[in-house]
Amino acid sequence: QILTASILLAAYLLGSLSGSLLLGRLRGVDIRTMGSGNAGGTNAFRTQGLAFALGVIVIDIGKGALAAWLGLRFAPASSAAWLGHACAFAAVVGHVWPVWHGFRGGKGAATGVGALVVLWPQSVPVMLAVWIGTIVLSGYVGLATVLAGLTAALLGMALRVSMPLHLLTVAIALLLVYTHRANLARLRAGTESRFEKARLLHR
Ligand code: G3P
Repeated sequence: QILTASILLAAYLLGSLSGSLLLGRLRGVDIRTMGSGNAGGTNAFRTQGLAFALGVIVIDIGKGALAAWLGLRFAPASSAAWLGHACAFAAVVGHVWPVWHGFRGGKGAATGVGALVVLWPQSVPVMLAVWIGTIVLSGYVGLATVLAGLTAALLGMALRVSMPLHLLTVAIALLLVYTHRANLARLRAGTESRFEKARLLHR
C-alpha cells in the first residue's frame, strides 16, 4: 500500500515539473502572463519560438512516458497494469495542477501523449493524424487537442481495450475538455486565436 502510494506521489511530483515554466525560469519569463496564458507547448511556440517550444514538448512528453513506465516497472506484478495507468493520470494531474508552480500549470495534452507512447503506442499515430488534420483544416490547436483526446477514448471503446486503458483514455479526454473550456468558449464566440501559418485551407 505504502509502495503504491509512494509511486503515485512520485508520478504526480514528476508531472508537476512543467517544461514551459522550468525553461521559462532559465529565460526569465513566465508564459502564463503571455499569449493564451497556458503553460504548454502551444503557448511556448506562440510566445517564445520553435526551439523553446520543442524543449517544452520533450520535457512534457518525456515526464508522461517516464511516469507510466515507473508505474509499470515498480508496481507489484499483480497491479502493474493498473498502477502504470494510474501513474500516467497522476502525471497529467500534476502537469495541470503542479505543486512546484502554485498549482497553475498546462492543459495536460503532451503529458497524456507521453503516457500513451508507453501504454498504447498504436493509438499515437491516429491521434497525431486527427490533431494535425484539424490544425491544417481549422488552424485551432485547442480544438485539435480536444478532438485528438476524444478520438483516443472512442478508439479505446471501439477496440475494447483493457479496463485500465479504457478508464485512462476516458479520464484524459474528459480532463482535456475541462482544461480547454476557455478555448471552447472562445471558439463559440469566434475569438479563439488561430495559427494562420498552419492553416492551409479557408484562407
Ligand atoms: O495543449 C494546449 C493546446 O491545446 C491549446 O493551447 O495556448 O492555445 O490554449 P492554447
